[in-house]
Amino acid sequence: IICCIKKIFSEKRYSIFFIRMIENLHMVSQKGMEISMKQYQIRSILIGCMLLCLTGCTANSEKKRDVLRVGVVLYTQDDPFINALTDCLKEDLAEYESDSLKVIMTVRDGKNDQKIQNEVVKEMLDAGCEILAVDLVDRTEPSNIIKMAKKENIPVIFFNREPVREDLMQWDKLYYVGCDAEQSGIMQGEIAAEYINSHSEVDKNKDGKIQYVLLEGEAGHQDAISRTEYSVKTLMKNDVMLEKLSYQLADWNRGQAENRMNRLISQYGKKIELVMSNNDEMALGAVEAYRKAGYAREDWPVIFGIDGLEEALEAVKAGEMQGSILNDRVDQAKEMAKMAVELFEGEDFEQESLKEGRYYFSEYQKVDGSNIDEYLNAEETISHSGM
Ligand code: BGC
Repeated sequence: IICCIKKIFSEKRYSIFFIRMIENLHMVSQKGMEISMKQYQIRSILIGCMLLCLTGCTANSEKKRDVLRVGVVLYTQDDPFINALTDCLKEDLAEYESDSLKVIMTVRDGKNDQKIQNEVVKEMLDAGCEILAVDLVDRTEPSNIIKMAKKENIPVIFFNREPVREDLMQWDKLYYVGCDAEQSGIMQGEIAAEYINSHSEVDKNKDGKIQYVLLEGEAGHQDAISRTEYSVKTLMKNDVMLEKLSYQLADWNRGQAENRMNRLISQYGKKIELVMSNNDEMALGAVEAYRKAGYAREDWPVIFGIDGLEEALEAVKAGEMQGSILNDRVDQAKEMAKMAVELFEGEDFEQESLKEGRYYFSEYQKVDGSNIDEYLNAEETISHSGM
């Protein structure tokens, strides 16, 4: 109680309020209006309660933390790579929590439909989020989202699906976190060429050419386009003679890739010597198709993916896949969390450290039989571990 009273008198506005209350009581009794002892006691109790409330409020407001609400809107919630990245982001944002900052991250699904995603973004803005993180459904259609965010002055961190440059440059509070897709295509071509050039048994029919199938992510996606182009170019540049059997779009999806591969297996049988996949999920679909087809391991083609998902790394370890390229979700999430907090706090945001003040690109890393143990079950040490 003593503390409360000290508190009250240390705040001018409350001491004035208190004095007025006492004066009122005094005036009432001076005017000769009869106040019974009971009434007097009730009033005193009421005043006491009010004072306690006021001090309580003051104490609370002193403890009150800034609240950062981050609205994360995915293109779909059915993508294992994106979900793994989102989990990392949640952990990273939680690390910024302190006595003065509370972080609330809300994740919503764009359901693979740009119109739905736009509506979800609107709801997030209406609900009062301070920062938006958006993995666009259609990377060529960010204008509605940009317009809405700009109106509310809410920064947007786009990730994974890169908007075209003109869109990103429309407003100075738009950013992008992702990777340089060309690099992943080149690296995938390099590890595949290295493997093929040192394992003559890959060329099963000994015709001096590698009959191959390519599983493509999604039409128009920057990663699918560059990975397809550069993996094949790099194989050829590294003296691998190729014969294309088929390119199949499978939407980054394991089930679709498995179906496509089933068809190709029935069409080409053991003729397929190499499967290049734009991501690990589809590579795992190919693995599943070969498992179910019941082929002996020496009749399987060699299979390469991209992302470094845990299951794919296990497949590399088991010899069902020969390599993957780590798409560093840990690093990307770390950068997104840092950006979100710095943009919110407004002070330390190091815009100069970003490419053109807007872009952050993570480095891909090669994973194959030679270094698989360093990566398997080592998620926390993946990012910037210098491996
Ligand atoms: C990843 C894919 C993912 C896609 C979604 C790519 O960068 O490698 O696994 O499905 O992004 O946009």
